[in-house]
Amino acid sequence: MVYFDNRFMEIARPIIEHDEYQQMRHLKHHDKSVYEHSLMVAYHAYKMAYKNDLDWVSTIRGALLHDFFLYKFKKCFSLRIISDSIQHAIVHPIIAFDNAKQFFDLNEKEENIIKGHMFPFGLPKSKEAWIVSYVDKYLATYEYAQNLKIRSKKKSQVAYNVE
Ligand SMILES: [Fe+2]
Ligand SMILES: [Fe+2]
Repeated sequence: MVYFDNRFMEIARPIIEHDEYQQMRHLKHHDKSVYEHSLMVAYHAYKMAYKNDLDWVSTIRGALLHDFFLYKFKKCFSLRIISDSIQHAIVHPIIAFDNAKQFFDLNEKEENIIKGHMFPFGLPKSKEAWIVSYVDKYLATYEYAQNLKIRSKKKSQVAYNVE
């Protein structure tokens, strides 16, 4: 359980309590929802930005909205998985930004945090955008590994029950 401090919540609350944003609670992302993933990315990126005396407000806002794409990306194991994944990596930051600007006023830095977070498919143009891109990759890898662990544990339990 991560405790989100007041400084973080003051900036994050207007976004995370928005009805559209709440839709992300229903979108799965590895072992979490896109909502939980985005909050964790925003919180850890904020901690790094604050520590380094950077623009932590834009870091929180951009990071919260970096995956605001509101559709389920279905991975099916076929020959198209690589091209579909690359296409998703390129397109979802643009969709996230298009959605975000409908509901929130974003500055240039926040726009680039969203559009550039999938480096090398996008280009972060500020230290804050690099932090978000790095934290996103780090947490996504961790969440993916956790998901694999849970799945393999479930499989071995099923196998044990069958015997
Ligand atoms: Fe993303
Ligand atoms: Fe992400």
